[in-house]
Amino acid sequence: MTPGASHLYAHLPFCASRCGYCAFVVEVGALDRRDAYAAALRAELAAESGRLGPLETVYLGGGTPTLMRPHRLRGLLEDLAPRLAPGAEVSIEANPETVDGDQLRELRALGITRVSLGAQSFQPHLLAALDRAATPAQVRRAVACAQDAGFASVSVDLLFGVPGQTPQDLEADLAAVTGLGVDHVSWYELEIKPGTALERMGAEPPDEDRAADAYERVVEGLEAAGFRWYETANFARPGHECRHSLAYWSAADYLGIGVGAVSTAGGVRWRNAAGVDRYIAALDAGEAPRRETETLDADTRRRERWMLGLRVDRDLDIGWAGAPDHPEALERLEAGGLVRRSGSRIALTRRGRFIQNAVLQELMEYAS
Ligand SMILES: C[S@@+](CC[C@H](N)C(=O)[O-])C[C@H]1O[C@@H](n2cnc3c(N)ncnc32)[C@H](O)[C@@H]1O
Ligand code: SF4
Repeated sequence: MTPGASHLYAHLPFCASRCGYCAFVVEVGALDRRDAYAAALRAELAAESGRLGPLETVYLGGGTPTLMRPHRLRGLLEDLAPRLAPGAEVSIEANPETVDGDQLRELRALGITRVSLGAQSFQPHLLAALDRAATPAQVRRAVACAQDAGFASVSVDLLFGVPGQTPQDLEADLAAVTGLGVDHVSWYELEIKPGTALERMGAEPPDEDRAADAYERVVEGLEAAGFRWYETANFARPGHECRHSLAYWSAADYLGIGVGAVSTAGGVRWRNAAGVDRYIAALDAGEAPRRETETLDADTRRRERWMLGLRVDRDLDIGWAGAPDHPEALERLEAGGLVRRSGSRIALTRRGRFIQNAVLQELMEYAS
């Protein structure tokens, strides 16, 4: 029998409005459903609990989980408490304008150990371009409150490749974030996603050279400030890597609960449908939420192990992952200084990491 999953994701979809770049499963104008949703989440957790082993990590993501307010998360966190392994990481995503010192202290007291604050930028014109509600001052205050509340790790999310972002803006964001004393930074390249306001406005991503320059500056700037570039878009002070994300990248099993949440366990993946009302109705009726289920064949799992495994600055064991689609490319990539190998273990070199997608395309058939 497959051992139970050690990682749980819970999706809290409520947002005050939808940011122009966001394509996540989000529910706007439904704040009156928060109590019913919290109850439904607990019901889904209870129904699925047989799939769980002791939990090493829990991640409350969104949406805007902090719009639930601590009292609506209490029940779920109480249900989870006896399932947590000693030293478990319990993360929450927080929008800076939705938290204050009292709430953050309450979340800490409820067992949350790690807070990830969505800053995206510290430049007012970029925040406006992204439809962000928080001002730079609110972001700074939220970080300070989270630090005072005593979480084990405080993280900040940022974006590069934002329309209108100049190299000077990027330097200013680097200076701002490295001045905060946070433990972890996620710095993503903005994707212009289909169906978003940004796409409808005809926003264009920066050209490849400018994006590559920006990425290089992000990595250099954060490394110079003492962060380790431990994953494509993630940087941590020693001991502050996000263990939940590391579990995804090592293709571990995980259970996801809530609308739009994905689970992967025992070679099967399922995704709950979007739509809070239908989710609540199903759980109220004692039924499972609407889901799409897919069996992961050996090839899919092998490709995922490569795609995820090469994101992190750890060796990938080919014995575990399986051979790449084009094993002959390995020698070429090694000779070109993009990959290094030691026996059955392989990792991207620093140069390889900057062009990870190109390297993957050499190795695998369907890498994106
Ligand atoms: C799931 S979002 C939710 C977090 C929170 N609601 C917020 O807005 O800060 C988590 C992170 O994904 C990143 N993200 C969202 N949309 C993105 C996009 N289109 N391209 C790149 N990163 C994106 C942002 O950095 C965001 O902080
Ligand atoms: S970016 Fe965050 S706050 Fe904005 S709509 Fe998406 S989930 Fe909500």
